Amino acid sequence: MAAESVFWGPDFQALQEEDPQIAEVILGELERQRSGLQLIASENFTSPAVLAALGSTLSNKYAEGYPNKRYYGGCSEVDQAEEIGIARAKELFGAEHANLQPHSGASANLAAYGAFTKPGDTVLAMSLPHGGHLTHGSAVNFSGKWFNVVSYGVRADTELIDMDEVRDAARQHQPRMIICGATAYSRLIDFAAFRAIADEVGAILMVDAAHFIGLVAGKAIPSPVPYADVVTFTTHKVLRGPRGGMMLCKAEHAAAVDKAVFPMMQGGPLMHAVAAKAVALREAASPSYQAYAKQVIANAQALSEALTAEGMRAVSGGTDTHLALIDLRGIDVTGAQAEQRCDAARITLNKNAIPYDPQPPSVGSGIRVGTPAVTTQGMTEDDMKTVGSLIAAALRPQADAAAIAAQVGDLVRRHPAYPV
Ligand SMILES: Cc1ncc(COP(=O)(O)O)c(C=O)c1O
Repeated sequence: MAAESVFWGPDFQALQEEDPQIAEVILGELERQRSGLQLIASENFTSPAVLAALGSTLSNKYAEGYPNKRYYGGCSEVDQAEEIGIARAKELFGAEHANLQPHSGASANLAAYGAFTKPGDTVLAMSLPHGGHLTHGSAVNFSGKWFNVVSYGVRADTELIDMDEVRDAARQHQPRMIICGATAYSRLIDFAAFRAIADEVGAILMVDAAHFIGLVAGKAIPSPVPYADVVTFTTHKVLRGPRGGMMLCKAEHAAAVDKAVFPMMQGGPLMHAVAAKAVALREAASPSYQAYAKQVIANAQALSEALTAEGMRAVSGGTDTHLALIDLRGIDVTGAQAEQRCDAARITLNKNAIPYDPQPPSVGSGIRVGTPAVTTQGMTEDDMKTVGSLIAAALRPQADAAAIAAQVGDLVRRHPAYPV
């Protein structure tokens, strides 16, 4: 690139001059992220490099189609971004094919249904109240409206996925597609067992790895890629990329997956997001990211133990991943109360249903806590002990939210997100 070229990138001053209202919102959100504890399991802090790619002129470019097969001229530069990203994804995950265009995790899942099923087909997936995602068959989602979804859950005694139940349901219902992967399940999933069941009944195996793909990228947990026909995921959780989706599949399914993303489900790709995904994939291939992924799990385990020591119960007895699901019935607090009390103390987490929850989903008996963001800030197991006691303090009925928020402030100042 010529030396005199100027990167026409994010110019915050221009935004402040042009639209002070929105500039203020953005600064307010930065301050919120910096000044509190971010424990939502599906969130993270992207790097400045990812943010720079997101805020670039690639947002201006229409690029319907795929590299070298576009429906618009002028795609030579964005073609390179997408080709680089695809190559990085294949290398990082050992995948035969990658598609970086899904706008989100739900879009990637819609495309997977589109590639492998027809409306009315039977799909076997994890039930939402036991940790599955809306796109795995919820009645209010396209999946539940257009497909005959049969659900499996976790056992009442172990709170683990019961592979015998999955096998029995597959034999009985002969699904066209089996989905594994979840939103609120803290344990490893036995991909080989799911593959064996899919083979036995002749089903496609889709792994929705939205939550844990970053741990796979960091080689901290086993990969679903060798077992799945298709792996869908979000790029913005542990993986620490831009908000978006991605798909990996066997070469034999490449054409079906690509056609399902475009033109079946989407129009033009968000090329700034595709470029930012490529940046995140490069970052995720580094040794420091592998250390990060391991620390995310160590922190989740330490936080789960700290909360258990405070009288709460970790669903399934603990975690192998980046999140823990915590049953609050033992301390007589609902999920909704916990979310609100923690919020007042600048601790951001979400209420969550626990398996076999007696409460309605809007209340929930539990919370879900995740460590991707606090680990990006550089926190370790000792900090998780502090976080556990701060949450416990915030949950007490007469908690002094302002005093706890001040302690939260001390902790996050020692590990600043986006240091100045
Ligand atoms: C397992 C799973 N799949 C899919 C999604 C959907 O991702 P998005 O919100 O990007 O559409 C999520 C989101 O949290 C998820 O947890």
